[in-house]
Amino acid sequence: MERLDKFLCDCGVGTRSQVKAIIKAGRVTLDGAVERDSGRKFDPATQAVALDGEPIKSRGSVVVMLNKPAGYVTATEDKNEKTVMELLPAEYKHLELRPVGRLDKATEGLLLFTNDGELLHRLISPKQKVPKRYYARHEGTATAEDVAAFAEGLALGDGTKCLPAVLEPIGAGESYVTVCEGKYHQVRRMLASRNMPVFYLERQQEGTLTLGNLERGQVRELTQTEISLLLQDGKMTKEL
Ligand code: URA
Repeated sequence: MERLDKFLCDCGVGTRSQVKAIIKAGRVTLDGAVERDSGRKFDPATQAVALDGEPIKSRGSVVVMLNKPAGYVTATEDKNEKTVMELLPAEYKHLELRPVGRLDKATEGLLLFTNDGELLHRLISPKQKVPKRYYARHEGTATAEDVAAFAEGLALGDGTKCLPAVLEPIGAGESYVTVCEGKYHQVRRMLASRNMPVFYLERQQEGTLTLGNLERGQVRELTQTEISLLLQDGKMTKEL
């Protein structure tokens, strides 16, 4: 059983106070009868809710992609810093979205959010080997030995062992790095361990998803097709 106001919020109808006003105004029906009690409990699986005569369906899993700008920490709240949650438009605020993994404050690019706990777990688990591709500007120039060391699995300065990763030198001071795990400051530490400290880092791809033409600071919701592609094992664009 679920409260009517919470259900309508989760369906994206509005914020809790907007939804309460909509219900009070007599615009919502439950099994065809006007329901003005926001706290009314009902069973979404068997009972029909409508707003202004239009049936409302549960939204299920929502996944949102953000093109993160630098300067925001990946956290749901922080006393001192701006968080990525501040970049979500109002229509997503009540959906209880959580960031999928994290990007450092200075890192830009693709960051997903979801309200689906299972999806979150699958995307961040190293077992699922979801490849994440980064563009990095760094000191020095990556060599064939660096590429081989990444492929083998680097040991970081503190002894942390990384899973095999792909380093693709682009030219002087520029490379792509693809990893399938998300250790703390991983890409920065991997490149630094090969004497290539990073100046700039952007995540460009996660599994099958790319930023496309999504502008910095903007968000878009994934389609159900994109969500199911993300979840299909062996469908990732880059096998590591
Ligand atoms: N690796 C990093 O070093 N930073 C990020 O934000 C993501 C991956």
